[in-house]
Amino acid sequence: MDKLVVRGGNPLLGTVRVSGAKNAALPCMAAALLTEEEVILENIPQVRDIETTRRLLSAMGAQVELGYGRAHHRTTIQARNLTTPEASYDLVKTMRASTLVLGPLVARCGRARVSLPGGCAIGARPIDLHIKGLERLGAKITTEHGYVEATANRLKGAEVVFDKITVTGTEDLLMASTLADGETTMQNCAREPEVADLADLLNKMGAKIHGAGTSTICVKGVPKLHGAKHRIIPDRIEAGTFLIAAALTGGDLKVSGCDPTHLTSILQKLQEVGVKTTQGADSIRVMGDTPHQAADVFTEEYPGFPTDMQAQYMALATQADGTSIITENIFEKRFMHAQELVRMGANIKIEGRRAIVRGRTPLSAAAVLASDLRASASLVLAALVADGETIIDRVYHIDRGYEHIEEKLKGVGAEIRRIGEMFPRKAAAPTAQF
Ligand code: UD1
Repeated sequence: MDKLVVRGGNPLLGTVRVSGAKNAALPCMAAALLTEEEVILENIPQVRDIETTRRLLSAMGAQVELGYGRAHHRTTIQARNLTTPEASYDLVKTMRASTLVLGPLVARCGRARVSLPGGCAIGARPIDLHIKGLERLGAKITTEHGYVEATANRLKGAEVVFDKITVTGTEDLLMASTLADGETTMQNCAREPEVADLADLLNKMGAKIHGAGTSTICVKGVPKLHGAKHRIIPDRIEAGTFLIAAALTGGDLKVSGCDPTHLTSILQKLQEVGVKTTQGADSIRVMGDTPHQAADVFTEEYPGFPTDMQAQYMALATQADGTSIITENIFEKRFMHAQELVRMGANIKIEGRRAIVRGRTPLSAAAVLASDLRASASLVLAALVADGETIIDRVYHIDRGYEHIEEKLKGVGAEIRRIGEMFPRKAAAPTAQF
């Protein structure tokens, strides 16, 4: 299993480019199941979750080309015949977003068999809201042997009110309703930019969707969708991670190819902490050489502060003067990184959904273990300012969602390298779901 070795102390200087958003690319790839025609997606990040989705769609009978060479950020998907509308446990357990195929499969094929995801490192991960929503559209759903089986002749438009805001739940229903008979109105929807990006693609495919990006989405069902070409939005979480890296290391970094309008809550928090930033149309520059003050954070659905930036923010909070209280409202167990940060010298106490971070404490290098995708990013950030050489184990988590992280960081001055195990064990199956 690969490890990352990071020697702390270098300020990040120069320009780093943000990749396409994994969390937009995944539902857009699933959306290609809704048509027999070719869907071309550009700005696809080269991360492991994309490869998992390629395997998932291929196993169903779709043809999926992930571009190489000059076209290496493009994928072409053609789902002419979906012979096996199933998502197996083997794939779903490594990537919970695999459940995104449930809605498109039942809408297109009239049946779907998708493994239940089970729990994961950051808490319970039910899909009851996806199931309830599809039932509202007329699907018959049973759960047996760990699989959800859904059938429907043709889905029927309906009123759906989500009990709780769910990102992939909104996306799943959105995709399903495009081919339903009649009109669907969904309320209490997730407002994430990734939902709006998916709706953009679906509209290019011939869907009739209004209101995506707001909490009420209306969809007029159509009998068929066609092929389309679409460019995935930039990854706001990757951008936010680099902003914090620059702030922590006291660097001067331009984060380019991002959409600053998607980063408002993160930029506001950085400003509160004392980090200086300036914005261009598609870039943000951080001039990090300023003292940082503690600031509380609570995670919320978009446009609030994202849970996917909580771990990275915690690394920053360890280096701010004063006490920061970080409240995690979305996932109940998402503080696995805290104990690893403590091993590096941080002063963090966990009380239920709150982490109390007392800064600033010098960090010193240690051998640490990444528990999930964003937790591993937080450990890389801490390592960038730690004294000595930190070794981060289980970096397959970071490879799920960050494209060439070590090359990007190295390109702006970080001392970071990847090593393989000298005597590799048989790789344990990755279990975290982010
Ligand atoms: C998505 C993102 C993930 C991000 C999360 C929250 C993708 C691929 N992943 O995950 O990176 O951290 O949004 O912003 O886009 N819930 C239920 N029942 C359901 C569905 C969700 O109770 O049927 C609960 C969850 O347990 C959680 C909350 O709702 O507490 C939000 O989860 P949700 O928005 O669904 O997260 P994901 O879509 O899985």
